[in-house]
Amino acid sequence: MTNSVRATIDLEKAGAEINPAIYGHFAEHLGRCIYEGIWVGEGSPIPNKKGLRTDVLTALKELKIPVLRWPGGCFADEYHWKDGIGPYAKRKKMVNTHWGGTVETNEFGTHEFMLLCEEIGAAPYINGNVGSGEVLEMQEWVEYITASAGSPMADERAKNGRAEPWELPYFGVGNESWGCGGHMRPEYYADLFRRYQTYVRQYGDYPIYKIACGANVDDYNWTEVLMKQAAAYMDGLTLHYYTVPGTWQNKGAATGFSEEEWDETIQKALHMDELITKHSAIMDEYDSEKRVGLIVDEWGTWYDVEPGTNPGFLFQQNSIRDALVAGVTLNIFNHHADRVHMANLAQTINVLQSIVLTEGDKMLKTPTYHVFDLYKVHQGGKVIPIELIGEGLHLSASSDHLGKTHISVCNLSQWDSVSLELAINGEVDLGQQWQATILTGDRRDAHNTFEQPDQVSPEPFTDFQMENNQLFAAMPPMSVAIFSLV
Ligand code: AHR
Repeated sequence: MTNSVRATIDLEKAGAEINPAIYGHFAEHLGRCIYEGIWVGEGSPIPNKKGLRTDVLTALKELKIPVLRWPGGCFADEYHWKDGIGPYAKRKKMVNTHWGGTVETNEFGTHEFMLLCEEIGAAPYINGNVGSGEVLEMQEWVEYITASAGSPMADERAKNGRAEPWELPYFGVGNESWGCGGHMRPEYYADLFRRYQTYVRQYGDYPIYKIACGANVDDYNWTEVLMKQAAAYMDGLTLHYYTVPGTWQNKGAATGFSEEEWDETIQKALHMDELITKHSAIMDEYDSEKRVGLIVDEWGTWYDVEPGTNPGFLFQQNSIRDALVAGVTLNIFNHHADRVHMANLAQTINVLQSIVLTEGDKMLKTPTYHVFDLYKVHQGGKVIPIELIGEGLHLSASSDHLGKTHISVCNLSQWDSVSLELAINGEVDLGQQWQATILTGDRRDAHNTFEQPDQVSPEPFTDFQMENNQLFAAMPPMSVAIFSLV
């Protein structure tokens, strides 16, 4: 069956800038994300640069990751940064109580994270410890990273091999303080945030963008209280929302799932739009200028772990269904670019909705990786509003700094192709041509394996025509495509 959708974009109405940070990622000390996924250590037979896997560095760099959040997640509120600096042999070990009770060696610490960010060209976003950490500890971490020679912490940093301060553009004050970060009430956390953020001082040349812990899903009261009591002290307020088909007890598998699970997953991913709309409306009451960003610093799919793997490691496969979740969610962020200033997919490698999976010395790019690769043309563009008539497709459009138009189109159906009739209002340079790339699968759980790493990978797409200012395309089921006027 073929449905049809009519859409109109008006090039003259390009509006808010899509902050590149919307295309950010998140890496926690959880399962095999940091250890094995990113960090193998200098003595490893796996090729590495100062302990960081080179295959992973190359893949992450290609993606133009704008910002990377670390060290958690729940882990952030147990992490004591001083355990992760200095000679490896002397670093204090700890038990990672949230994630499988493994022993954390602290081999990957501040210097290693900053090196990773430098290597892949991402801005560091560090999440500080409010749940079990002291104010002084947080203050000294910021000083250690950003102060110039002469300060006690900067001198300590120099002793550990780094004379120059680093730039630290983003700092989070606690994570999920309503849950694993301390089970606080919003009124109590709002006061703690005001206190802790005071000591997130500016030692370097640039102010640090301070991020307060925000709501879980639809806890609108949390947003209300934080905005009322602390908006003046924050630059960003977080929101966490995971796409969980089924229930938390029985989420369903990442592959081999049913037709109904596909539909439920897509519907739940689309719920992000309502959440952002409602949290934004509350923020508007206290911040009509939209100065405070909504920072969706944890999002993505969460399924049952792969059979036979440690339940605390949250390892799951990634299929064309995840690609669709990524496509629609990034479209939603683009539409809300005026309020959503950053977002971070959970979690980069080997955990939840990963962009990369590893096994020993092997590495593969997931369908989700390819969506981020296709969509990177939206980074820094101006969002173009879209009018839609019909159902089955989900779109967003932007105009980049060269004035080129990019449209991302997701066909949400696992069965039906959908014909798109897109009218473009505004001046189109007749010398320009549309080019398109598509990601699709031959079944609803199509995915990449270490034996067949390119089962789901982008291909040039040619099933479209341009007549005057109209684009006609036949979008196959289960597909994510990007059309660029170049
Ligand atoms: O991403 C996994 C966990 O989900 C994070 O540690 C926590 O913040 C959230 O509950």
